[in-house]
Amino acid sequence: QAPGSLRELAPFPVGAAVSVSLLQNNAAYRQVMTTEYSSITAENAMKFGALHPGATTYNWTDADYLVSFARQHNLRVHGHTLLWYNSLPGWVTNFQGDSAAWENLMRTHIQTVVTHFKGQVQGWDVVNEAIDDAGNLRSANLWRQHLGDRYIDRAFQYAHAADPAALLFYNDYGHEYSDARRNGILKLVNDLKARGIPIDGIGLQLHTSSNISDARIASAISAAAATGLRVHVAELDISMNPGRSAGATFTPALAAAQKVKYKALVQTYKALPPAQRYGLTTWNVADADTWKRADCACPEWPLPFDDSYARKPAYDGIVEGLQ
Ligand code: G3I
Repeated sequence: QAPGSLRELAPFPVGAAVSVSLLQNNAAYRQVMTTEYSSITAENAMKFGALHPGATTYNWTDADYLVSFARQHNLRVHGHTLLWYNSLPGWVTNFQGDSAAWENLMRTHIQTVVTHFKGQVQGWDVVNEAIDDAGNLRSANLWRQHLGDRYIDRAFQYAHAADPAALLFYNDYGHEYSDARRNGILKLVNDLKARGIPIDGIGLQLHTSSNISDARIASAISAAAATGLRVHVAELDISMNPGRSAGATFTPALAAAQKVKYKALVQTYKALPPAQRYGLTTWNVADADTWKRADCACPEWPLPFDDSYARKPAYDGIVEGLQ
């Protein structure tokens, strides 16, 4: 543990989502993970298609590597994600069956995965991104199409039955930029809680940007905390090129503005009641590895470490927010 590392300074877990191949092949990446962070999430390796590529085939190799790396380096593991409409394998998108067969498919996946990692994954994103931009349940979602609105209840119940000690989260995006999304998400989560469905927390992805004010980010975090559930800042990154300009450069002024945004966000999160602070996770480690560069043919620098894994001003902003 480096003196002044995030894990040493933070009174709650600070994590990053990782690519397993970078963890295996990039020494600088591994070094940052083990010295700076206290929590780890698989960016892709625990998704449905990664773990369960065929109807009767499971592939645990990468996810098990991540879990044993975490054990070796004293990192808490957060599981992402049991049920999402996206990143499903072909055998699921092409699956033919009645609602009982779909129920069996969903239940088997959740039970098998949660049981495999029982005692090693502290919390799970049970359901990911079930709400649409209008704040309603997303209709382009195979699970809802075949199982009805209450598939969400049962997903949480199956996960809880498989590992009663695991903390169970609903994870979604847009809390900070869309009132419709925020209200829809909070309505869903409050309804689950009121009906006794075993939900422990809410994940705010916070793929955010310089366009979104610090006040809006703060109100998103406090509205989530008002549910009384644990709050996970689950997929944090702050785009400084929201206009997706192909010719943009990362000027010192942008770096300084990003520092201020990271600091404000961390200060807000740190002010939550300690029992509600499940942790803060960035979506990958360094700018070189961000999904945003794959998503757009434009330059992006959304993370606290630069392309050479050196600390950026954004990193100093997190540190100042923690102090
Ligand atoms: O593994 C294959 C590789 O074999 C192949 O050569 C390559 C060619 O395209 O694709 C690789 O898979 C890609 C995978 O990332 C690993 O790089 C998928 O096509 C690509 O769709 C996948 O994207 C991920 C995306 O979720 C979809 O699962 C991103 O890395 C990941 O950052 C992103 O994460 C999501 C969260 O799970 C949920 N919230 C939003 C967030 C950002 O979209």
